[in-house]
Amino acid sequence: MNVAPTLVAARTSLPPKGARLVGGDPALRPLGLFISFEGIDGAGKSTHISGLADAFKAVGRTVTLTREPGGTALAEKLRAMVLNDVMDSLTESLLIFAARRDHLTTVILPALTRGDVVLCDRFTDATFAYQGGGRGFDVNVLKTLEAWVQGTDGENLMQPDLTVWFDLNPIEAAKRLAGARVPDKFEAQPVEFFSRVAKGYADRQHAEPGRFARINAAQSREVVWLDVLSVVSGKGWL
Ligand code: TYD
Repeated sequence: MNVAPTLVAARTSLPPKGARLVGGDPALRPLGLFISFEGIDGAGKSTHISGLADAFKAVGRTVTLTREPGGTALAEKLRAMVLNDVMDSLTESLLIFAARRDHLTTVILPALTRGDVVLCDRFTDATFAYQGGGRGFDVNVLKTLEAWVQGTDGENLMQPDLTVWFDLNPIEAAKRLAGARVPDKFEAQPVEFFSRVAKGYADRQHAEPGRFARINAAQSREVVWLDVLSVVSGKGWL
């Protein structure tokens, strides 16, 4: 069976105009804001995501708070498999991008079109960091999947407006995680895995410095929060 036409049809069903397309016409972008949060396990992003949701609500914005893998009923089922079941790296990447596709088309894009602030706990940079860096999976395959799932043509990719990257030394992150809860498949990985994940994030930041804000997550929680606020305020969004 030739699946290519179906893939092309699905790909072009993303709004060709009006989606936030890197390199697209700014006048066509919807009112919403898309912010993703990244970092290795234990870097401490969660409390700051909910803090930022409250801060946006306080200035009258409607917030869609979501996560990857997950964010829809289907994607949450895929998440449970990805986090718990043993599989090879291609299977893992396909499931993650399948979850992303459902999440993007049924939650993220509609929310952005309504003008919401979408705060997403992890997005595609995590796939490049964990599957590409951590697992050592072929980054060119990931780029192809990224283009299928987030692309509307050969050039433009649907990406966050801002990615807040909580950067923490993997040894420090492991200390923070120790004994916190029963680890999932990724949290149970050794420090060397997280060193490769951290390198994967650094590579993504290097490729797109304008989209990334690196936060030094080794600082106290209060200082990290002030840094997060200052990045978002600096954009004029709060
Ligand atoms: P995480 O975001 O840390 O959620 P929680 O705080 O509930 O544990 O967990 C998601 C895990 O999934 C995390 O270990 C990273 C992994 N992951 C990938 O490997 N690839 C991806 O593309 C995404 C989005 C997550």
